[in-house]
Amino acid sequence: MVTLDMVRNNPLVKQYMQIGNEYIGNIGAIEHNMYHAEQTSRLCYHILSSLGYSERESELGSIAGFLHDIGNLVNRYGHGMSGALLSFNILLEMNMDPEEIATIMGAIGNHEEQARGNAVNNVAAALILADKSDVHRSRVRKRDMAVFTPRDRVNYAVTSSELQVDATERVISMIIEIDTTVCSVMEYFEIFLTKMLMSRRAAEYLNCEFELVINGNKLL
Ligand SMILES: [Fe+2]
Ligand SMILES: [Fe+2]
Repeated sequence: MVTLDMVRNNPLVKQYMQIGNEYIGNIGAIEHNMYHAEQTSRLCYHILSSLGYSERESELGSIAGFLHDIGNLVNRYGHGMSGALLSFNILLEMNMDPEEIATIMGAIGNHEEQARGNAVNNVAAALILADKSDVHRSRVRKRDMAVFTPRDRVNYAVTSSELQVDATERVISMIIEIDTTVCSVMEYFEIFLTKMLMSRRAAEYLNCEFELVINGNKLL
């Protein structure tokens, strides 16, 4: 059985993820480094296991979470689709079970809101929630605020973000603290609305309600 550690220690995976992050760094995109991969991987596992999905399905979530941005190597645009295909080759080479590879491909290929990502399976739903909740100041690479894109600004505004899973009530909450001198709560909400709606649909797929709390205000 292919484990998260085996994927993480695959030299090709490491190399391609690092080069991909460098490439998109050259065009000023926010950080998609090993920390983001590890964080998404951990959260995916946490969401699935706390909601009572099997150990193996949760591990598939952790693998999809680790690999999800590997497609940045090919192009930032459509990196979900290219990432799914890159992962296909890597996981096939590692002799992963074809059905498990399919689960991971569906998840990675559906994690981008621009590419009309949808929760097509449990792992895809967890990946959307985990990925979208990793917003933080530390992911912005630019140092000059004058050249910030709206996405840089909303990321820079976030001083803490946390995803809470209440398995008994079946509620998934995204708790975010933002620095309102950088961007207002409304502006944040406006820019992140598509991501938040995608997260809500993903939570519904897992039979959970979705809650968004920014600076103590419940917005969704
Ligand atoms: Fe991504
Ligand atoms: Fe990501």
